[in-house]
Amino acid sequence: MRILVTGANGQLGHDVVVQGKKQGLDIIGVDIEDMDIRDDKQVQKVLKSSNAQAVIHCAAYTAVDAAEDNAELCYQINSEGTKNIARICKELNIKLLYISTDYVFNGEGSDPWQEDDLRDPINTYGKAKCEGELAVEKYLNQYFIVRIAWVFGKNGTNFVKTMLNLAKTKDSISVVSDQIGSPTYTVDLSVLLLEMIQSEHYGHYHVTNEGICSWYEFAVEIFRQAKQEVEVIPIDSSQFPTKAKRPHNSRMSKVKLDKQGFKRLPDWKDALKRYLDECLSD
Ligand SMILES: NC(=O)c1ccc[n+]([C@@H]2O[C@H](COP(=O)([O-])OP(=O)(O)OC[C@H]3O[C@@H](n4cnc5c(N)ncnc54)[C@H](OP(=O)(O)O)[C@@H]3O)[C@@H](O)[C@H]2O)c1
Repeated sequence: MRILVTGANGQLGHDVVVQGKKQGLDIIGVDIEDMDIRDDKQVQKVLKSSNAQAVIHCAAYTAVDAAEDNAELCYQINSEGTKNIARICKELNIKLLYISTDYVFNGEGSDPWQEDDLRDPINTYGKAKCEGELAVEKYLNQYFIVRIAWVFGKNGTNFVKTMLNLAKTKDSISVVSDQIGSPTYTVDLSVLLLEMIQSEHYGHYHVTNEGICSWYEFAVEIFRQAKQEVEVIPIDSSQFPTKAKRPHNSRMSKVKLDKQGFKRLPDWKDALKRYLDECLSD
């Protein structure tokens, strides 16, 4: 089966291609210079000529705060772009796995979000990704929608890199402690995505590393593992205003993974250790 990965220059897409090649799979990566997902003609041409039987759709507009000022662009890429991918996958009979986000939920309460809970996004990025999910559901009868969160990988900017960079110039860092979720290492995630796309176990999934924490706890663990002496000060979201509203509760149920026989990802602290080793190995 030939697998085509969109957003292959990005944080996740890069590792999906790397892991696929490591496993000896027939996998190719494309990004905006090969196929702008906003252009349906281009999407049709590239998907057709690639002879792909499956698409892992990682391409997206991911600047969550900037999206509040650039809503049109965000919708063009995350909603219309995904609509193009879904429609052409239907036309060419290609299996689709769409990467979505915890931001499709409103972040209220403290229970883990179930895979079939009501979507109620609270910011522009979340709304556009949610429209992407709706397009996949509209055009295809069988598909994978995989919601992920708090992603870190070698080929991108992420919270771990931000913390380590801040530590170069600061002795103390304030980090929000009232947003709870689970970090996700792109390498672990990629392995599961590749297993999933080769299966027939379609549906909605949540995939993150196991265990939950606040961003504050995440930062403390980053500095502990990186052996950096930095004071981390817990603060409320109200003390750290951002352009886009953030969900407080991003706990995600993994029941669907269990039901379909997929193995959950390792604990996030273990994933962080392997990630820091990977970054330091350069
Ligand atoms: N990062 C997270 O914490 C997180 C959390 C939840 C869900 N997700 C989802 O996970 C997926 C991967 O995220 P990521 O962190 O790997 O994002 P990323 O690093 O921003 O990668 C996205 C890639 O898509 C490309 N792209 C943008 N517009 C495009 C277009 N019109 N046509 C084709 N490609 C285009 C980007 O190119 P440019 O860089 O040139 O724009 C980039 O290479 C996304 O669907 C995202 O919504 C991410």
